[in-house]
Amino acid sequence: MTQGRRTGNPKTTLFSPLRHQVRHCRDSPGARSSNQLPLANPSANHLIPQPLFSGGDEAYSNQECLGKKEKKPERRIMAQFQPLILSTWDFGREANQAGWDILVRGGTALDAVEAGARAVESNPEITSVGYGGYPNEMGVVQLDAAIIDGKTGRMGAVAALEGIRNPISVARKVLEKNRHIFLVGAGAKSFALREGFREENLNTPQSVRWYAEQLPQSQQNAGHDTVGILARDARGDMAVACSTSGLALKWCGRVGDSPLIGAGLYLDQAVGGAVGTGVGERAIEVCGAFAIVEFMRYGLSPQKACEQLLRRVAERNRNRLNFQLAFIALSREGETGAASLQEGFVFALRDSTRDHTAPSAVFGRDYP
Ligand code: GLY
Repeated sequence: MTQGRRTGNPKTTLFSPLRHQVRHCRDSPGARSSNQLPLANPSANHLIPQPLFSGGDEAYSNQECLGKKEKKPERRIMAQFQPLILSTWDFGREANQAGWDILVRGGTALDAVEAGARAVESNPEITSVGYGGYPNEMGVVQLDAAIIDGKTGRMGAVAALEGIRNPISVARKVLEKNRHIFLVGAGAKSFALREGFREENLNTPQSVRWYAEQLPQSQQNAGHDTVGILARDARGDMAVACSTSGLALKWCGRVGDSPLIGAGLYLDQAVGGAVGTGVGERAIEVCGAFAIVEFMRYGLSPQKACEQLLRRVAERNRNRLNFQLAFIALSREGETGAASLQEGFVFALRDSTRDHTAPSAVFGRDYP
């Protein structure tokens, strides 16, 4: 087992492999709430209006959600969709809070997932993402991040980025420039500096101390908790983001699944999205997030799609199934899924009625 997780509680969990605490668990993974639409007829159920807010300049009609703009009188229904945000691990609650503040004001899913990732990246107590993230074998923090906008289909990603606290915002900038999709290493850094990002030392006193302690053991793969965030906004638009410092003590230049579109994250707004955490190499081998979305496209629920993908991973690795890999998924109808290979993974969910973390389904225990 090569996990090294930590929770949002700095006093007990900094760099420690303690299990995540489960808080306010009111739903089982994949459970439907009253505001989630059925998946049975995916081609039709996104058309069912779900009134949320009314009036104002920002009002939207159902026709606008379908891409047919139509002027309507004032004080009409604005939103047809219940906003929802779903994230990995218990630090996902922090991500969800930042994203929810945007969603609840009628902001976009893209802004929400970026804000969620930034919150986790900027917290030095969260030691596998962003500032204060796990260093590589040379003691350098190299960060990976990616973001996909379901509304436009645009994507942006950066990998092995050094010295920039919020790689997700650099990835967002790549997305906005819309010329390339994926920048790495020195090129990604010079792009970030050109775009006005500030360079800083991402090592904290804690990470320096941790590195000094770990080095004699040459312990590779000590930790790998990616923050992955899926959101749907009140217009029904979706976005996904993920950000990580990657495997602790990774080789210089090693890139995991997180910034690889299709491996660590994928989104097709006509279907839904998925994002993963765990040992990235095992997700890359199966194009994990893409496969989950394709399973959903052909009729599996987000829950069953995550389980089906992890079953495939387990089959490929049946002689060495001692690593963690987990995925969360969200359909355009707002149905969620979460599954992992090992115990210990939790997801965080926020919508108008729920704000909690809960354990995922575990391979071999909850699904074969
Ligand atoms: N899933 C994060 C990584 O392997 O880098």
